[in-house]
Amino acid sequence: MKIIGIVTGLFIVSASLGAQTPVYLDETKPIEDRVEDALGRMTLEEKIAMIHAQSKFSSPGVQRLGIPEIWTTDGPHGIRAEVRWDEWVQAGWTNDSCVAFPALTCLAATWNEEMAALYGKSIGEEARYREKDVLLGPGVNIYRTPLNGRNFEYMGEDPYLAGTMVVPYVRGVQSNGVAACVKHYALNNHEVNRHNTNVIVDDRTLYEIYLPAFKAAVQEGGAWAIMGSYNLYKDMHCCHNEYTLDRILKGEWGFDGVVISDWGGTHNTDQAIANGLDMEFGTWTNGLHNGITNSYDSYFLAGPYIEKIRKGEIGTEELDEKVRRVLRLAYRTVMDRTRPLGSLCSEAHYAAARKIAGEGIVLLKNDGGLLPMEIHDGSKILVVGENAIKMMTVGGGSSSLKVQREILPLDGIRERFGDKAEIVYERGYVGDVTGEYNGVTTGQDLSESRSPEQLIADAVEAAADADYVIFVGGLNKSDHQDCEDADRTELGLPYGQDDVIEALAAVTDRLVVVNVSGNAVAMPWIDDVPAVLQAWYIGSEAGHAIADVLSGDVNPSGKLPFTFPERLEDVPAHIFGDYTGVASRDTVDIEYKDGIYVGYRWTDMQKKTKPLFAFGHGLSYTEFEYGKPVIDRKEMTSDGTVTVSVRIANTGDREGKETVQMYVGDRKSSLPRPLKELKGFRKVSLAPGESTVVTFTVDEDDLAFFDPDRHEWVAEPGVFDVYIASASDDVRGKVSFELK
Ligand code: BGC
Repeated sequence: MKIIGIVTGLFIVSASLGAQTPVYLDETKPIEDRVEDALGRMTLEEKIAMIHAQSKFSSPGVQRLGIPEIWTTDGPHGIRAEVRWDEWVQAGWTNDSCVAFPALTCLAATWNEEMAALYGKSIGEEARYREKDVLLGPGVNIYRTPLNGRNFEYMGEDPYLAGTMVVPYVRGVQSNGVAACVKHYALNNHEVNRHNTNVIVDDRTLYEIYLPAFKAAVQEGGAWAIMGSYNLYKDMHCCHNEYTLDRILKGEWGFDGVVISDWGGTHNTDQAIANGLDMEFGTWTNGLHNGITNSYDSYFLAGPYIEKIRKGEIGTEELDEKVRRVLRLAYRTVMDRTRPLGSLCSEAHYAAARKIAGEGIVLLKNDGGLLPMEIHDGSKILVVGENAIKMMTVGGGSSSLKVQREILPLDGIRERFGDKAEIVYERGYVGDVTGEYNGVTTGQDLSESRSPEQLIADAVEAAADADYVIFVGGLNKSDHQDCEDADRTELGLPYGQDDVIEALAAVTDRLVVVNVSGNAVAMPWIDDVPAVLQAWYIGSEAGHAIADVLSGDVNPSGKLPFTFPERLEDVPAHIFGDYTGVASRDTVDIEYKDGIYVGYRWTDMQKKTKPLFAFGHGLSYTEFEYGKPVIDRKEMTSDGTVTVSVRIANTGDREGKETVQMYVGDRKSSLPRPLKELKGFRKVSLAPGESTVVTFTVDEDDLAFFDPDRHEWVAEPGVFDVYIASASDDVRGKVSFELK
């Protein structure tokens, strides 16, 4: 187990050696020299040990040389509680609670790089304090279908948005000397059959939609680790995939960090040796235990690998390259004695969580300005719905957390309004009452004996004389409701929530629906409900952040990072075929027939169907007026740029933030292209009456598409349109120029 003692031991070794300090321990020497020196001192057995797990979450260092163990942790919303050495059972520590930060969908919805930097720095500090060296996150798989059970761990449907937001997160984490392990690379866009889905996707779609966020994390964020995904691509598991790992990640992108397998994602020694996997974790050890003292020795990159080397079937070139990368990781993290010490559950982290949540909550609808709430002495607020009283930090799979505290929505509302208003709670429906994941329990008793009809009747009765009715529902991270290893089975809300909402809407026009989910949900009642908030899973400060927005203490400024379709039948992944195939043990080929037309790239082209809420949509309690965009020139050469400026003014009566979005469209091209694609955004904060000019620079990269024949990005001469928008379906101005 890694305890400070080992690090201290290292210090003593290094200090006492003085002038004879070996290169690998000499902190004045470049990391690459130290890596080579350490490598040269290691035995074959030590090298093999270093590239696979020794426990559920750690790999051994080289004790003899004073190279410490490497400890990983989930990720990506907080630091997971400790499990036993080799069991998915709680270790029973009392000092492993954490702050739960908002889910990554919420972070993406802030459209604010500063929030991503704050998130990364804060969660990195928690990881560091808990003595972790690798944080298993963030996740940047593209949102292809609203049924994907893990969308809440990702950053939405757009490669540019996800690629922009991931960079400060990675840098922030790594500023603590903790590696970010970006996951799940690549094409892991649903959970059903996740170990045996073989994705068939054309090169253009791969490069334009599914890879850019990973590339940005690696090249701009400088990620030190990446996690191979469970699925297959070109019939090869992505944890040891010649194309994605060897050719693209390490070849084209020049990644110098470690490739870590997803837990149990390694399947084959030869491929694991040859195709770019550096560290094997989580291989299913059941069944390997029998008669073997250390089942980790049976990992694909353990016994079977060393056997091949000993028999002379293979050399050590690949092994040395893997070990080099692991050593580099060690020098960047656990062997960096200058790294900060971190902090856990600090007030600063709670403040960060609340701020990010407040900026990520999206005001979807606000007819008649029902929000923000205006409360007077004697007002009555009725809160309805299980999600108002249910802890949401437990559940969802590996991202489940053991939190030090979690403010529930009902408590947040009570705290904010309780001094003036009478606050009444009604359950409305019963969803998931279990509250347990992996041995961490919420300790909540959510049992309920009333019938569904009675629950609705009680809520309706209480609603009649309420000044506000706040329905807090949605999904809840239980199986099939935004949870790892399973997808949702429908777009609709579960547990009869539509009936509750409709019944409430029939008796009050002061109804606010707060939807807690990581996915789009159907809203058949939308015309009858005046105000809707998309509140995500927002972690420890959920109740505070929701009350901040309901009260107007925080003016909402989140924008959707993915499209809310009206019906599943409007989603291209579903229109063009079966997005998962039937659950199966055999390999299932899934062709991404929707190609590049994911999300708004599809809805933009539809004349008849409109999404319920478009990508980039999000309202404010104030109004913003856009001026006419101005372009600095009408022509651009291939190495040049154009700039587009637009004045934006806050014409309402309260301070607010607006995200100005810039999309670019190619009028005519040799290959079909979307009408427009996001290529820039800027969030500005404006006082009432204030205005500012936002300027975007467009360069050739923003104009290019991936030409699969030439295997390169190509910008074709011709006319391009630059759209300045408040949402993908709310374009406020357009300018054009010609690429010569
Ligand atoms: C998940 C990863 C996670 C790992 C370790 C896997 O099942 O897919 O995201 O980091 O477990 O818990």
